[in-house]
Amino acid sequence: MCGIVGYTGKREAGRVLIEGLKKLEYRGYDSAGVALQENGQLIVTKAAGSVADLEKALNDQFKEVRVGVGHTRWATHGPPTDLNAHPHSSVSGKIVVVHNGIIENHRSLRRRLTEEAGYRFNSETDSEVLAHLIEYYYQDDLLEAVQRAVADVEGSYALVAACSEEPDLLVCARQDSPLIIGLGDGENFVASDIPALLAHTRKTCIMEDGEFASITPDKVIFYDADSLPVEKEVLQITWNQEAAEKGGYDHFMLKEIMEQPAAVRETLRQRVDVSSGLVELQELDLTPEQILNLDKIYIIACGTAYHAGLVGKLAIEKLAGIPVEVDVASEFRYRTPVFAENQLAVVISQSGETADTLAGLRMARARGLKVLAITNVVGSSVSREADQVLYTWAGPEIAVASTKAYVTQLVALYLVAIYLAQIRGTLEAAKAAELVKGLLGMPDQLKQVLSEESVAAIQAYCDYLVKWDHAFFIGRNLDYPVAMEGALKLKEISYIHAEACAAGELKHGPLALIEKGVPVIALVTQEAILDKTLSNIQVVNARGGAVFAITREDFKDVSRQVDSVFNLPRVNDVLAPILSVVSTQLIAYYTAVGRGSSVDKPRNLAKSVTVE
Ligand code: G6P
Repeated sequence: MCGIVGYTGKREAGRVLIEGLKKLEYRGYDSAGVALQENGQLIVTKAAGSVADLEKALNDQFKEVRVGVGHTRWATHGPPTDLNAHPHSSVSGKIVVVHNGIIENHRSLRRRLTEEAGYRFNSETDSEVLAHLIEYYYQDDLLEAVQRAVADVEGSYALVAACSEEPDLLVCARQDSPLIIGLGDGENFVASDIPALLAHTRKTCIMEDGEFASITPDKVIFYDADSLPVEKEVLQITWNQEAAEKGGYDHFMLKEIMEQPAAVRETLRQRVDVSSGLVELQELDLTPEQILNLDKIYIIACGTAYHAGLVGKLAIEKLAGIPVEVDVASEFRYRTPVFAENQLAVVISQSGETADTLAGLRMARARGLKVLAITNVVGSSVSREADQVLYTWAGPEIAVASTKAYVTQLVALYLVAIYLAQIRGTLEAAKAAELVKGLLGMPDQLKQVLSEESVAAIQAYCDYLVKWDHAFFIGRNLDYPVAMEGALKLKEISYIHAEACAAGELKHGPLALIEKGVPVIALVTQEAILDKTLSNIQVVNARGGAVFAITREDFKDVSRQVDSVFNLPRVNDVLAPILSVVSTQLIAYYTAVGRGSSVDKPRNLAKSVTVE
């Protein structure tokens, strides 16, 4: 999620690092820092803000330095400040570390290092623990210290460490977060993303999970998880800068769609106890008594986030038995909700800066409600003003049309629903455990939905859809908000007029528009009401509408009753939106591409709407 650059060689390291960090800034970072090896000392310079702010702070000092590491941060633990920016130094300043990912057991490691070694911490980040832990194990061998340190770590990491006592050396480790070594002549590089390397080299080695690398100007040695040296294949990068920023995909939107398995995994991290099957939401600052007494929840959001709220409502009501009202924020702020004691407001906002959502939040707080924010941006206005924050860890989202942020909002809402249900006793332990298991299985199921074969099936359907100017999305119960989100996505980026309709409502109006060939995308994932949805589909068939059903592979009857189907893996009714919405994202994407639209920046729309 953050950006890493490291250099050891013959050039001015500070310049190489700043230029590399600038190439990673397209992802939208909030603070940056470098550590440079100078005369047996590691000099750290950090700045909240952009890489340009860091460049100013560095002020062209340390021109003779040839080794260093740099980082641009996308905050997860602790707001974007100078102190929380990387690199982090160990107690003596001997070790510095830059880190991407999340150290899940950072609290217990922090406790251990404070109690056993008397170490003091300077930042609120989980990453700082790595610098201290490496120093704790350091005995004249940085590689060994890093290996011993990561053995104690649970979580994800791409890390690069440097030590003032081994001045030419950088040591790297990777688990669940990308790290790429760039090979030069008398110099070597490391980066989290290819764009940071392209100006210097196209010869790279991609590190795999569990691997380590030690890098000096003349040599790179890779080690496997058992610390045995491994030979790595050298890959020649052929992408240009623009393609590299998009990870080789044609658009940020597709890259972000493909990142969803990882985004979901990150959002679940530290929030479920796999062994007990329980959800643990330390972020939710409500006593069990307050949760038991909750009479109503208001969910307030705009756009895509509003659609996540609609799924949240159905899940919370079904699992936790609490009545939920969902409002578009621009409506909420001008109506007169009947506020009372024992109510909670939940605001959902990817950016955390949407003006209407912020106004809804302020209104709820002013009327005495506690506000829980679900947002993707640490330090955003929404996160600062809410009483409690549940972050989605989707990483920066660039495409205007939200995809991975939406799916992680769903995950966050499911966690809230299950957590409330656990405490209220409205869900049997076995059912809760089944849902938690289902959530943990989502990254793998999402990979299936995003497989080459699935994408090809969607593309084939989009060849049909692309020719139409109108389309309908239908669904019932949890499929209905997904239909709404699918229609929104399609109109946002392909400019096809798309309307979502509760399948049972077709007969009350929209059916008048169904004639031969009109595309109708039917969401059919709810086992409990399968027959009902199928009978709504029959009504469309009778008028000649062309139905494309997004359904479950085990609903064998569906394919016989529609023109074509897209099969999702078997999934619990409640969790189905996570999978089904991804297929609607692909439909919107490939249709927009087919129509030659500007996918990442659709006309008239903005990523973050900070005016009313
Ligand atoms: C804009 C974006 C949408 C987004 C909405 C709410 O309209 O184009 O993609 O859903 O704002 O944004 P938020 O950042 O509050 O989730």
